[in-house]
Amino acid sequence: MNDIKPVRKAVFPVAGLGTRFLPATKVMPKEMLPIGDRPLIQHVYEEARDAGIEEFIFVTGRHKNMLQEHFDYQPELMKTLKTRGKDDMLEKVRDSEMPEGKLFTTRQAKPLGLGHAIWCARKLIGDEPFAIILPDDLVLNDTGCLSQMVETYNEKGGNVIAVKDVPREETNKYGIVDIGKEDGKIIEVKGLVEKPDADKAPSTTSVVGRYILQPEVLDYLAAFETGAGNEIQLTDSMAKLIGSQAFHGLKFDGKHYDCGSRLGFIEANIGYGLADKKIGAQVKEIIKDYSSND
Ligand code: G1P
Repeated sequence: MNDIKPVRKAVFPVAGLGTRFLPATKVMPKEMLPIGDRPLIQHVYEEARDAGIEEFIFVTGRHKNMLQEHFDYQPELMKTLKTRGKDDMLEKVRDSEMPEGKLFTTRQAKPLGLGHAIWCARKLIGDEPFAIILPDDLVLNDTGCLSQMVETYNEKGGNVIAVKDVPREETNKYGIVDIGKEDGKIIEVKGLVEKPDADKAPSTTSVVGRYILQPEVLDYLAAFETGAGNEIQLTDSMAKLIGSQAFHGLKFDGKHYDCGSRLGFIEANIGYGLADKKIGAQVKEIIKDYSSND
């Protein structure tokens, strides 16, 4: 008998201030910054939808209403596009609409950390496994990162996180995995540490912002214990699940972009621009031009 419950819900923590992108994010949420022709929040929504997610939970905050409005049906706009015969654009806008009754929101009133943001969604998550997607992290691949993780989850159950290798001097920016047995792309997670210094990091395998977790993690989050940076860290509560539940990391296929940094954001726009069927070849030419002017 297969007692692995399906993953139907995804949580998107979107309450952050986006200070790294000021003044662009003075009135606009950072999750509305575009990579290619879509804002970050739509990229991750589509990734979740493609992975079979049915309920989308935004942990939002002040000045973030635009993130919900982006997924609304816009009758005037659709009418205008129809009248003008802009069918391709119609199709694109339709893709940005969320089915009715599928978007749920809760608020994180204070910036107490990622763990706290997830705890704020506890009532909407309920007693079932759920995914978390951080919109800062994009993965470009034909099969989305979360779809790949769902496949691993359906095989292994328990908890699955996306992982990738980072340079040792950067371990203090990420959650880092203490690695157990490795089986191809799937690794056993023996321990987790949030932002350890290079000399204390158990490995150089970092957590990328994609998680499939069991609801028990919410009980640990409820303790409100603070960790690295004096924040309530998701990593610390995940670490407490290890031993009592299966816990695996997936070395996913695809190129990862850290869109939360200015450089990563620019790199993502280059990567997505190159992958764009319509303008990819021209983007390549532009890059060539810039490179030859060194
Ligand atoms: C968060 C997590 C960290 C993870 C990272 C991935 O950190 O706490 O474990 O490695 O996301 O993007 P943040 O980027 O919010 O500091």
